[in-house]
Amino acid sequence: MPESAHTTDLPKANGLEGVVAAQTELSHVFGEEGKLVYRGYDIHKLAGKASFEEVAHLLWIGRLPNQRELDDFNQKLGKNRTLPAGVIDALRPLPSDALPLDALRTGVSMLGALEPDRFTFEPDLDQAISVAARFPAILAAFSRLREGKEPVQGRAELNTAQNYLYQMHGEAPEEKHWKPLESYLILLADHGLNASTFTARVIASTTSDLVSAITGAIGALKGPLHGGAPALVLDMLTEIGSADNVEPWITNALDSGERLMGFGHRVYKAEDPRAEILRGMAETASTPEFFALSQKTEDFALAELARRKPDNKLYTNVEFYSAAVLSAVGLPGDMFTPTFAVSRSVGWSAHVLEQASNNRLIRPASEFVGATDRKFAPIEER
Ligand code: ACO
Repeated sequence: MPESAHTTDLPKANGLEGVVAAQTELSHVFGEEGKLVYRGYDIHKLAGKASFEEVAHLLWIGRLPNQRELDDFNQKLGKNRTLPAGVIDALRPLPSDALPLDALRTGVSMLGALEPDRFTFEPDLDQAISVAARFPAILAAFSRLREGKEPVQGRAELNTAQNYLYQMHGEAPEEKHWKPLESYLILLADHGLNASTFTARVIASTTSDLVSAITGAIGALKGPLHGGAPALVLDMLTEIGSADNVEPWITNALDSGERLMGFGHRVYKAEDPRAEILRGMAETASTPEFFALSQKTEDFALAELARRKPDNKLYTNVEFYSAAVLSAVGLPGDMFTPTFAVSRSVGWSAHVLEQASNNRLIRPASEFVGATDRKFAPIEER
C-alpha cells in the first residue's frame, strides 16, 4: 500500500463472496447440500423429463407450459431461428481460426445494431425469445462458414437441440446425439448470480438494452474460471491419454501450482448436482474407454485435492463431465463454451427481464488503497 494511503471502513468482500447483490426468483444454488432449483423445481425433476423449451418457458414466464402454451411458444421460437442476412455477412469475413465464442459475441451484438427499433431500451419477452433462439443459428452458421460451407436455415418442426445440430451438420441429428444435448442445455440454463449473469444484470441495471447485456455476459463466460473450462478438461484428458498416466500427470500439475479444470466451485461445497447427472449421461453417451479415463482422473483428482487442500472442499463441477457429453454428441472442443452460452442465454435474458422489472442501478463501492496527497510537478521537472 502506498505511503499516506487512504482506506475506507466499508465491509470488504474479496470477489464479492457472500454479498447479496440482487433478489431473484429464477434459480438458487444450495451450495452446502449440492442442490440446484429453477423456480421451485429441483433440476433432477427437469433434466431428461421436460424439454429445453419447457424449461425456457418456466424461467422466462414463471411456470411450466401446458401443451397449447408450449405449441405457441415453440412457434415463436421457430419464427426466430432465421438469421438476418447482415449477421451472416458479419460472420463471413471472420478468420476460420477465430474462436466460435468470439463469433457468437459478434453475431449477437450485430442483432442489436441491425434492429435498433426492436431491441429498445425496454427489454421484453419477445426480445429475449428472439435473441436466445438465434444463438444456435449464429454458432452453426460460423461453424459451416469456417469449413467453407454455406449456412443452413433452421426447420420449424425441430426443437432447439435438434436445430443446433441440424444447422451445424446440414442433416437431421440422431436421437442419441440431440437427447443428451437437450439435457445438457437444461442443466446449464441458469445458476444464481454467477459471474456472467451478474454482468448481464449490471448492464441491465443501467437501463441499457437486452442485446448489450447479453453481449457483455458472453464476454464474462469466456474465462476459464467460469465457462471456459470444458475444452480445457478435454485438453487435460487428451494429454493424460491413458489410465497409467493419470497419477503422474495430476501429481505433476498440482506440484507445479496448476488448477485442475473441472474441479472446485465458489458456491458448491459439495458435489455439483449437474456433475452427478452429467456423469450418468457421459457413461451412456461416450465411449467406455473415454468414460473410464474420465472416471479414473476424477477419482485421483478428488483424492489429491482433498489431501492437499482439505479446508477448501473441492469437488467435481459441471465442466468436468460436460467435456465427455459434448464430445459424444459430436461437438468439437472449441464449441463447448459456446454451447454453454446457448443454454445460459435463457437464464441471462430471464435475469435481464427480472432486473428491469424492479430496477435499481448496481453500483458497488471499491476499497481505495491509493495515495491522496501527491505533489504535482510540471512535465519539464519530472
Ligand atoms: N485445482 C487446484 N486447486 C484449486 C482448484 C482446482 N480446480 N480450485 C480451487 N483450488 C484451490 C486454490 O488454488 C486455492 O488454494 P490456496 O488457498 O492454497 O491458494 C483454494 O483452492 C481456493 O481457491 P479460490 O480461487 O479462492 O476459490 P474460488 O472460489 O475463487 O474458485 C473456481 C472457484 C474459480 C471455480 C476454482 O475452483 C477453479 O479455478 N477451478 C478450476 C476451473 C474450473 O473448473 N472452472 C469452471 C467453474 S464452474 C462454472 O463456472 C460453470
